[in-house]
Amino acid sequence: MEYNFDQTTDRRGTASLKWERYRGRDIVPLWVADMDFRSPPEMLEALHKRVEHGVFGYPVPPHALVDTIVERMQRMHGWAIEPDWIVWLPGVVVGLNVACRAIGQPGDQVATFTPIYPPFLSAPRHVQKSTIRVPLAKQGDRYTFDVDRFGASITAHTHMLLLCNPHNPVGRSFDRAELARVAEVCLGHNIVICSDEIHCDLILDDKRHVPTATLGREVEQQTITLMAPSKTFNIPGLGCAMAIIPNGNLRRRFLDARSGLVPHVNVLGYEAALAAYRHCEPWRQALLAYLRGNRDLLLREVNRIPGLAMGPVEATYLAWIDASALGVDDPPRFFEQAGVGLSDGAEFEGPGFVRLNFGCPRATIEQALERIGNIVR
Ligand SMILES: Cc1ncc(COP(=O)(O)O)c(C=O)c1O
Repeated sequence: MEYNFDQTTDRRGTASLKWERYRGRDIVPLWVADMDFRSPPEMLEALHKRVEHGVFGYPVPPHALVDTIVERMQRMHGWAIEPDWIVWLPGVVVGLNVACRAIGQPGDQVATFTPIYPPFLSAPRHVQKSTIRVPLAKQGDRYTFDVDRFGASITAHTHMLLLCNPHNPVGRSFDRAELARVAEVCLGHNIVICSDEIHCDLILDDKRHVPTATLGREVEQQTITLMAPSKTFNIPGLGCAMAIIPNGNLRRRFLDARSGLVPHVNVLGYEAALAAYRHCEPWRQALLAYLRGNRDLLLREVNRIPGLAMGPVEATYLAWIDASALGVDDPPRFFEQAGVGLSDGAEFEGPGFVRLNFGCPRATIEQALERIGNIVR
């Protein structure tokens, strides 16, 4: 089947977080991480069928979904998981927060590498824990872990690392060797790794995602992995995600921390996830090709605009743009005045940067580039 990612869908008036922010204003919204594409037709068909059935009682995870995930994890990542390692969640951010409740005591410290997706910074705070921020290091134009600094920042109260793999906002898909050095430090200090891998099916470069838990048996036993079909298949509004927790003791603590607070995944979320993983691989491949085109266009054109610098994006549909050389006080406001709505790097602990979501038709990117180029020049 041919998929047309150039097709625009009017999202105004659909109670979209992304589009409501600039309601009634001529500002192209390229901020929060959902895409402007319709979900795969194969998935829409499955959802239509489920809606036609017409009964929406309490669900359980469909057996077919569990089987599909176990098979897919083996095929895509060489990771043999057991069905009962999977804990269902209505979102990955919920998983970050539950992990922070489950591991350690109030007053403890949770480490993370910055810049980082803001909920990594707020989740520890919600349960009276503090965050150790370890800046990512720059090697040429690539970000990587500063493992020495990470090791040096750990104290007797550090019990968990919130890791983002692939990384939002810097777009890295980390190599096995990089991850192994971080995991070694964690094992040495008995630190649980909560690895957010929501972007793992959005690797744009010719490389394979390495789930942190596949680094070895010991790491697997020390890791909570968070995954979801939501970013890849554009269904964050359907609320279906999972934690994969091989260690029974960690899993029980996670389930305890979740209990009574976290709602079921809804019936349509399960249905969409099943269709995504079973039937939508051709759509995903076509999406990746399209996103690569958007990324390449941005990389070329943003770096031609004086005062802006964008690095490579190996994974995600997010560009992390350094606007500090422009010398403006408030870069997101500056770009809003030009008619482009971007995420503020300061919220990611990257002041002077903006994050641009390129999960949209190319014509939208071209329009944004023109507006950005005009205001800067
Ligand atoms: C790294 C990361 N984790 C989690 C989320 C959000 O996940 P959810 O909508 O399932 O809570 C995002 C969304 O951008 C993300 O980039």
